[in-house]
Amino acid sequence: MIYPIVKYGNPVLEKPAEPVTNFDEDLAKLVEDMFESMYAAHGVGLAAPQIGISRRLAVIDISFRKDAKAKLVLANPQIVKVEGKQRGDEGCLSIPDFREPVTRGQKVTVRAQNLQGEWFEETGEELLARAFQHETDHLNGKLYISHLSALKRDLIKRKIRKLMKAGEW
Ligand code: NI
Repeated sequence: MIYPIVKYGNPVLEKPAEPVTNFDEDLAKLVEDMFESMYAAHGVGLAAPQIGISRRLAVIDISFRKDAKAKLVLANPQIVKVEGKQRGDEGCLSIPDFREPVTRGQKVTVRAQNLQGEWFEETGEELLARAFQHETDHLNGKLYISHLSALKRDLIKRKIRKLMKAGEW
């Protein structure tokens, strides 16, 4: 099932999500739906709050379907190590048509549980490192625009409010 993506303005995006506690069939189905919804929206990462489900769960596939091994499920993820810095444009499916440069760690290690509830650690660089941080932020109720200057963030918020008023958001 493809879920519609929740957009900025919906409070679910800005509150910390609840831990995943049941590693069952329902979770497996939800993860399958999240991958489907992410691909349909042309994204490389998706957090459960973005489909209106306040759970600490995210999916990532920076290969965008080209490499089955690149599919990652992160339940209850925590960033445990950040090395170096990278600066590059970042966007979010919940804030469509905006992209801004964001500084992130260059090499990032995440600790999370898989669909079976087993803990694992994964280290990624560049885009994968960025995805680990972006998606983990989502689960803490934090959007990438919170990493921008107040000036830039307010400008984006103002543009979004205009789009909302015009019924285009
Ligand atoms: Ni996002």
